[in-house]
Amino acid sequence: MRKKIVAGNWKMNTTVAEGVELAKAVVAKSAEVPAGVGLIVATPFTHLVSVAEVVKGSRVELSAQNCADKEKGAYTGEVSVNMIKSTGATWTILGHSERRQYYGETDEKLVEKTRLALAAGLKVILCVGENLEEREAGKHFEVVKNQTEAVLFNFTAEDMKNIVVAYEPVWAIGTGKTATADQAEEIHACIRKVLAGKFGEQVAEDTTILYGGSCKPSNAKELFAQPDIDGGLIGGAALKADDFIGIALSF
Ligand code: PGA
Repeated sequence: MRKKIVAGNWKMNTTVAEGVELAKAVVAKSAEVPAGVGLIVATPFTHLVSVAEVVKGSRVELSAQNCADKEKGAYTGEVSVNMIKSTGATWTILGHSERRQYYGETDEKLVEKTRLALAAGLKVILCVGENLEEREAGKHFEVVKNQTEAVLFNFTAEDMKNIVVAYEPVWAIGTGKTATADQAEEIHACIRKVLAGKFGEQVAEDTTILYGGSCKPSNAKELFAQPDIDGGLIGGAALKADDFIGIALSF
């Protein structure tokens, strides 16, 4: 059985002190969430060491939001997978649409980042998703299929045990415009089919596929009720512990 996960992507929000408070509130409320649901907080790099202390010994796992595409050395301003690992974090998000859109994240770079992350022992949440123009042109299946293949087809069935896919339609991120449960489900099913074609039915069945894009306590239940939606990658609503936990209670 694949794991259900609710992951909070804090993006570029909170100071260290605010982040520590938010993480404390999430840990405090995490007992309400059924044991089978994984909880992850993805903080800014600057917060990882402090938040690692807060989540230590709890069920809440810690994630970065990106990593360098180089192992180490003269890459000013970059943060390596080993640095992330050394904070106590066990995950990193990769390929978020904001990174693809604003920071030139290419599929080639994502292959390298994923390779480095897995080699360092980090698990990966790989984001895919079409933008509004692509959706309106009816190209959403094609775009998501291509993004999924371009990165994941460079990895093995064994690697897939440490990779979660997040479908995040760009037009739904931070816009308040959630994909309907049907719109999300048909893309999730498509991603699972793409994975089955490459890695076999079992790997596809075992891979957690999250939905992201204006997910909140009021719409999570309907989304999570879909057979191929295994949880959420939560932006805005992850900045309030009550909302984040409320979403995690929606299975
Ligand atoms: P949102 O962001 O929940 O604020 O729409 C989701 C994400 O970008 O991960």
